Amino acid sequence: MGKDVIVACDFPNAEQTLAFLDKFQGRKPFVKIGMELFYGAGPDIVRQIKARGHKIFLDLKLHDIPNTVKKAMMVLRDLDVDICNLHAAGTIRMMEAALEGLTRPDGSRPMLIAVTQLTSTDQEALEKDLLIERPIDEVVMHYALNARKAGLDGVVCSPLEAGKVHDVCGKDFLTVTPGVRFADGDVGDQKRVMTPAEAKKVGSDYIVVGRPITAAEDPVAAYERCIAEFIG
Ligand code: C5P
Repeated sequence: MGKDVIVACDFPNAEQTLAFLDKFQGRKPFVKIGMELFYGAGPDIVRQIKARGHKIFLDLKLHDIPNTVKKAMMVLRDLDVDICNLHAAGTIRMMEAALEGLTRPDGSRPMLIAVTQLTSTDQEALEKDLLIERPIDEVVMHYALNARKAGLDGVVCSPLEAGKVHDVCGKDFLTVTPGVRFADGDVGDQKRVMTPAEAKKVGSDYIVVGRPITAAEDPVAAYERCIAEFIG
């Protein structure tokens, strides 16, 4: 399993997404499709991007009763994506059911990773809104361990947590990390960020990069810069 840069294609429709991907000509970046694009353009956008030869991380963050998540994953497995995800807060049983649903009759399946705590949730919200009184990094590691127990392949986490997740869950447990910015770039609404080079140092397996590439004057050059810093 190699390290890679995943480009978050947070566009509202298929036209803008495909026009963006057209800029890359020969290159086929690993693409993240999130809720905005999936709900706006429908499952066909996944098939179209896959047919163009891209790997796909389908970021829909499922969270429901185990049976419902299992049935939803049975639908997603036929979209032939490379990575799917869900909320670890749905419990170990829900994650096990998701894996069952995602596994095809021939035993193959997309990778499945878990969101531990959203990076938008801070200690105050954890305590006041969710009545969880433990320190947030303890909660994140507990949820990551639950995901590993359920048989998942890894977690989505902040690059600041990637090293600790590997210490707690093992080196082969994937860390997929958003919140990446160039040293000389805009932070935007991300709070705790790292550069691609720093994310490489702390052992992130995949970095998810949106606006530093999609909003760049030259998206292909920005993508190449990410690749050079993170992999090269
Ligand atoms: O534009 P930017 O680089 O901030 O995009 C990051 C992407 O990663 C967005 O699609 C965002 O929804 C996603 N993400 C995140 N933090 C998480 C989980 C997903 O930023 N904890």
